[in-house]
Parts: sequence; C-alpha cells; structure tokens
Amino acid sequence: MKVNKIIAGLGLLMLSACVSKPTSQIDVDETLHYCDVQIHKTLSSLHSVDSMDYTMMPRNILSGETEWNLRKATKEEWTAGFWPGVLWYDYEATGNDSIRDEADKFTRSLEFLAEIPAYDHDLGFLIFCSYGNGYRLTGNEEYKKVILAVADSLATLYRPAVGAILSWPRNVEMFGGHNTIMDNMINLEMLFWAAKNGGNKNLYNIAVSHADKTMLNQFRDDYTSYHVAVYDTLTGECINRCTHQGYADNSMWARGQAWAIYGYTVVYRETKDPKYLEFAEKVTQVYLERLPEDYIPYWDFSAPGIPNAPRDASAACVVASALLELSTFCEGEQADKYKNAAEKMLVSLGSKEYRAGDVNNSLLLHSTGHWPAGSEIDASIIYADYYYMEALLRLKKINDGKSIY
Ligand code: GLY
Repeated sequence: MKVNKIIAGLGLLMLSACVSKPTSQIDVDETLHYCDVQIHKTLSSLHSVDSMDYTMMPRNILSGETEWNLRKATKEEWTAGFWPGVLWYDYEATGNDSIRDEADKFTRSLEFLAEIPAYDHDLGFLIFCSYGNGYRLTGNEEYKKVILAVADSLATLYRPAVGAILSWPRNVEMFGGHNTIMDNMINLEMLFWAAKNGGNKNLYNIAVSHADKTMLNQFRDDYTSYHVAVYDTLTGECINRCTHQGYADNSMWARGQAWAIYGYTVVYRETKDPKYLEFAEKVTQVYLERLPEDYIPYWDFSAPGIPNAPRDASAACVVASALLELSTFCEGEQADKYKNAAEKMLVSLGSKEYRAGDVNNSLLLHSTGHWPAGSEIDASIIYADYYYMEALLRLKKINDGKSIY
C-alpha cells in the first residue's frame, strides 16, 4: 500500500514535470542586478569629474580600453538616446528613484531635437529610446510633447515620390539618389506611437508605406537584406542596392538583418496585418539558420576570417529582444522556437565570454560598429547594452505572464 502511494506520487511528480513549461535557463533577476551594478559603476565614473555634464553620453569602450568614450548629444550623434534608455530600463528593473532622476537629466539633453529641422532618420533611436521609455514609465506630459514634435520632424524626411523616408539627406550625392537604410525600420515605431497618441494620423500611413517599400526593394529572394536601397528622387524607381556597413553589397550584415527582424515585428504589432508577421518570420528564419553554435553572429554572415572574424553582440541583443516580442504573436511550437532562440542568445551573452564584468563598466563585450570604416570593432557599444536590458525585461515579463509593454 505504502509502496503504491510512493509510486503514484512519483508518477504525479513526473507528469507535472512533463506538462509544466520549461523554466528559463537564465537567472533574469541576477542578470538585471549585474546590469544595475555596472550602471552604477558608470555613473560613479561620470560623476567623478568636477562638473557633471549631462550632454555627454557613453558611446563605446574600445578593445583594450577600460573607460567609456563619451560623445556630446548633438544631431549627428545617433547613439545619444541609448544611455538615457539604459537608465530608464534600470529604473524599470529596480524602481530606484535616483536612477530615474539620472535618466530624466540625460533624457532632457535631447530636447533640442524638437526645435531643429531633422538632420537624418535616427530621430527614432534618439528620442524613442530616451523620451519614449521615459513617458512609458512616468507619464510625464512634457516628454510626450517632445516625442510628438520629433515625430513630425522625422516625417519631413518622407518623400512621397519614393514612398519612403530619406535616411541620410547628407549622402544623396554619394549614393546617387534617395537612400533608405535598413536601420530606418526602427524609427517607424515612434511614428506609429505618435499617430495613436495625439499626433498627426498620417504618420501611421508614412510608417506603413516605408515598411512596404523596404519590403519590396531591400530584400533578396532568400529574405536576407541589403543595407541600402537607392531610389531615383523623381520617379521613385529603385536604382541600386548596396551596403555601407556590411562586408559586401550581397552579404547579410548582421545588424542590418537584426533591424529588419525587429522592425517588421513592430510593424506587425502596430498594424496587425498578417503579411508583416509572415515577413518577420521569414527574415528571422534565414538569420537563425545561419548563426554559429552560440547564437551570436559574426558581424557579417560573409565576414572574412570566419570562424575567427569579430562577432556582433549588439545584433544578438536586438534580435533577442525582437524574438521575445515575436514569440508573443505566435502560438505553440512557433512561439517556443522564438523564445528558446532568444534565451539561447541571452545565455551566451551572459557567459564569461561576453559579460563585461570586471573588464570594463559596460554590460557586454564584443560588438562591432562599422567594420568597413575600421570603427568600433570588437568593442563594448552602448546600443548593445540598451537592447540587452530591453530583452531581459521582456523575458522577465513573459516568464511572469505579464504584457511586455
Ligand atoms: N544605425 C547604425 C548602425 O546600426 O550601426
């Protein structure tokens, strides 16, 4: 009798082990705590100077260096919104009011973007990572005004003849026409947000048109992406496809594909048109199929020197975050596939190979910014840290059965 009861108990235990969802292999709370420690180290070092300058943003720590290289928040500095964004995510993770105050001060250094003409497409990166997260977490109406003004400013770069945003107005001559780069997909999120939060409703149509043009012209038959599409400024015809930061015109630049995965996931979220979900899954599939074993891509999938070529942890962070969102739009095996892939990326990023730890004050090592220009190769880069924290917070919310927004 006693033995029977034990066997029945064991059976129940085994059954519940089979039906319960697999738990995450990552200790998300420990990892977020690690991020908080590193962020405090950076803040201490920023405050160690005589007079603190909130317009100077951490950008990178190059291989062999130990201190953040800071960049002034100017219209040309596309990464200036990520450090405020990292602070907002840390505030979200910890609820620490002193971090919120720091996030607010760095964020406000970007307010000038609401008062000047658009310099290029990066306004979404600059404002939605900083003010966007700030508004999401605090509901501060002053932040909202800035976002709405900058969304209108970004829309001035939309060219109806092409049906897409001109990414780099300064480079029209260099590329021989209107240029749209894959990174520009990320900036659509701010337009969608503004359209439904009191801004001009046409911003929605601009974002959709841009996504459609990019889908039509900036992918190969196998769903790998071109970094740049060039259009005739008058007729809107696509006249060239090439790269700027990738290895070759016909190679898959890792971060470019990451922007595509993230971008089309957002476009599906905002439109609920299944064609974007299908497309997001296709651009994801080719990326996943070609990843190395640890799920951190080489900086370009055709990079010279593979398997000894530099990796791009930043692309892995962008994709991990995107796949966690994508998993929420799918069911069953498909949802598990994206969540498991994202977790695999986060496990590698949390390993001693990628964790910055005592090496420097960033969160992660081994990102590549602009290999063809010889810039930021195998470095810590602020946008890797930003998307890493975003992914960790998304995973925590999913594991807790909460909405990721
Ligand atoms: N948006 C520029 C980059 O991804 O490097």
